[in-house]
Amino acid sequence: MLEIKGLDTGYGKKQILYGIDLEAVTGKITAIIGPNGSGKSTLLKAAFGLIPVWQGRVFFRQSDITNKNSKFLVQNGITFVPQGNRVFDEMSVLENLEIGGLYLSKKQFQIELEKIWQLFPELKKRKKQNSGKLSGGEKQQLSLGRALMPDPTLLLMDEPSLGLSPKLVSQMMNHLQKINREFGKTILIVEQKVREVLEVCHHVYSIKLGKIAYSGKPEIIKNDKDKLRELFL
Ligand SMILES: Nc1ncnc2c1ncn2[C@@H]1O[C@H](COP(=O)(O)OP(=O)(O)O)[C@@H](O)[C@H]1O
Ligand SMILES: [Mg+2]
Repeated sequence: MLEIKGLDTGYGKKQILYGIDLEAVTGKITAIIGPNGSGKSTLLKAAFGLIPVWQGRVFFRQSDITNKNSKFLVQNGITFVPQGNRVFDEMSVLENLEIGGLYLSKKQFQIELEKIWQLFPELKKRKKQNSGKLSGGEKQQLSLGRALMPDPTLLLMDEPSLGLSPKLVSQMMNHLQKINREFGKTILIVEQKVREVLEVCHHVYSIKLGKIAYSGKPEIIKNDKDKLRELFL
């Protein structure tokens, strides 16, 4: 569904990623792991048109989307949950979801909204509350809900479990599986909670110093402590 080929990018003159080849397969959860500062967020930002791709191409359902802007990508079926579960604190829960559903017809908006309430009943109970008052876990649900509102084909997520308690991390992973299996979304997720994400993903890439250091089935590295240590050194 998403194919990244030979991607180079960086900030200013500083190159961060080198010749990244990666594929997010239709209907699957693909995870990207790797040490802090290795370029994981940078890769998602480049794929989502937030920073320029220097070299290489990005394809979405066979179309070249290299350096297309985020609005174009959202309208064509890709949404992004950035790192740090950002919500608009001064707005209500419902208003935050309305922003996610900006391009939907009234009818479609209601259909999508119902799906979000069903997935996150806690949010429905608080729909009129200011989002700033939500707990960390609820804010995470809201930023995920906002990204789901346009009914994307592909969901990009950057460390959704950041700052969550172990219990909430496992709840997040359950939501992830549900969104994949029941909502049929293809997911590309960057995650530092390696053990947890290896339980739910179908394929895993590791990025180290701006290059792909591993690509394979999670089962192969899941119980290999030496390999995992090597990927994080
Ligand atoms: N906006 C930016 N401007 C300049 N350098 C940045 C910026 N964002 C990230 N970097 C640098 O790019 C490298 C990779 O960062 P990032 O992709 O955020 O890593 P990760 O998500 O894997 O922790 C780091 O060295 C970081 O300091
Ligand atoms: Mg990051």
